[in-house]
Amino acid sequence: MVKLIGKKINTAIFISGSGTNLNSIIKSSLKKNFPIKVVLIITNNQNAKGLRYAKKYKIKNKFINSKNMAQFEKKCLKELENSNIKLVCLAGFMKILSKKFIKLFKNKILNIHPSLLPKYKGLNTHKRVLKNNEKFSGCTVHYVNNKLDSGKVILQKKILIKKNETELSLKKKVLKLEHLTFPKAIEIVIRANY
Ligand code: GRF
Repeated sequence: MVKLIGKKINTAIFISGSGTNLNSIIKSSLKKNFPIKVVLIITNNQNAKGLRYAKKYKIKNKFINSKNMAQFEKKCLKELENSNIKLVCLAGFMKILSKKFIKLFKNKILNIHPSLLPKYKGLNTHKRVLKNNEKFSGCTVHYVNNKLDSGKVILQKKILIKKNETELSLKKKVLKLEHLTFPKAIEIVIRANY
């Protein structure tokens, strides 16, 4: 556990969907010794289920339309600045950020991916993993760089795939693992960089 000397780091979480990773990060962040505070939630999906956690925990949240990514990023940057954000976590955020945006937050944007990267970058991970008869799968938290799911790995956790595993059972198993892994990765990053 990180021993806090100063204040918690203001953090924004970007989501597009169910937001279960958001929930696990918020829950961790409420612990006294956890090094971040979730002060802003940004979504590009007005109907994202995860927004319920913003309401539950009364966290500032913004829907920003991502049809035009340049506009989306411009508005995002304003929000990040207004809330004095020092760390961005992509938790099921389904858009690709530009080089320019990533550069502005160099080593301050983290993403979680449901595979053992560098294997199975991109979408439909579990389906491809099962099709290839892999023995293991897992999840990876990494820094975001200019290539999809390719930034430096911060933390990776592994699980065994059962004989009768289905796409749904694997998804559930990996998601549960993600909920433990993302908060741990955040602690590692803050310890190393802040
Ligand atoms: C997770 O599996 C994450 O790895 C992937 O999208 C899913 C998001 O789930 N990028 P949730 O929105 O956190 O429930």
